[in-house]
Amino acid sequence: MKRNLRGLIVCVSIFLTVFVLNGAFAAEKTGPVKGTAGKAGVSRYDETARGVNAPMYDYYAQRIKEATGMTKGVCLDVGSGGGYLGLSLAKITNLDFIFLDISADALERAKLHIVEDGLQNRARTLLADVHSIPLDDGSVDLVISRGSIPFWKDPALGLREIYRVLAPGGKAYVGGGRGTPEIQAQIAARRKELGLNPQSRPKGSGPVKMAQRNYDEILKKAGIKKYSVNTGDDGMWIQMWK
Ligand SMILES: C[S@@+](CC[C@H](N)C(=O)[O-])C[C@H]1O[C@@H](n2cnc3c(N)ncnc32)[C@H](O)[C@@H]1O
Repeated sequence: MKRNLRGLIVCVSIFLTVFVLNGAFAAEKTGPVKGTAGKAGVSRYDETARGVNAPMYDYYAQRIKEATGMTKGVCLDVGSGGGYLGLSLAKITNLDFIFLDISADALERAKLHIVEDGLQNRARTLLADVHSIPLDDGSVDLVISRGSIPFWKDPALGLREIYRVLAPGGKAYVGGGRGTPEIQAQIAARRKELGLNPQSRPKGSGPVKMAQRNYDEILKKAGIKKYSVNTGDDGMWIQMWK
């Protein structure tokens, strides 16, 4: 009887140990993807992007429309987060959109905003890594990407992947910035009015600063010949075309 009881206790302990360890591992597996902000970070970023920072996305959308002349076809927004840049561009073009991001949390936001903006027929999300884009060669007319390239481990590979999916005549506009000094001043004034802290980056995101990488060399390494790199008062932007 005593032996049976001891056996039962051993079995229950083994079961509990396996259960607890497995639970911890599962929690680790579902945690934030490295290089992304996690649920709380995504939520904070999202509120600002759809709120006080919205004029910045509208500014870049207008810049992209003017610089590329692309108003129809398929647009891929790489590292789209909640889709802010693409959604701004959707308001002033007839493009269809694919919002690609490595973070499922960010894409949940993008899905919400697609519905809020009534774009269900023009937009979809794609959970993927820029280093291995699950799209066919030459299947995209325009690639846009803001604020994501500093997070890519191998930017030459990411840019090569973007170039691969571009269709003949296609264009890409990839980089980062916070708008012109005027837009930044407008946003700062609005933040002050609302009693918000000055703009800060999401914690734990750790991007490689734009200036720390030589994108000209990176594009050469990627074997891309048709490109330009522009650093101006609205950030650093790479344009590529086929
Ligand atoms: C600073 S946020 C920019 C979001 C949005 N484009 C914007 O302008 O607000 C960077 C985004 O890049 C995504 N990202 C980072 N590494 C990535 C990768 N290897 N492939 C695809 N997306 C990536 C992150 O998940 C995050 O949503």
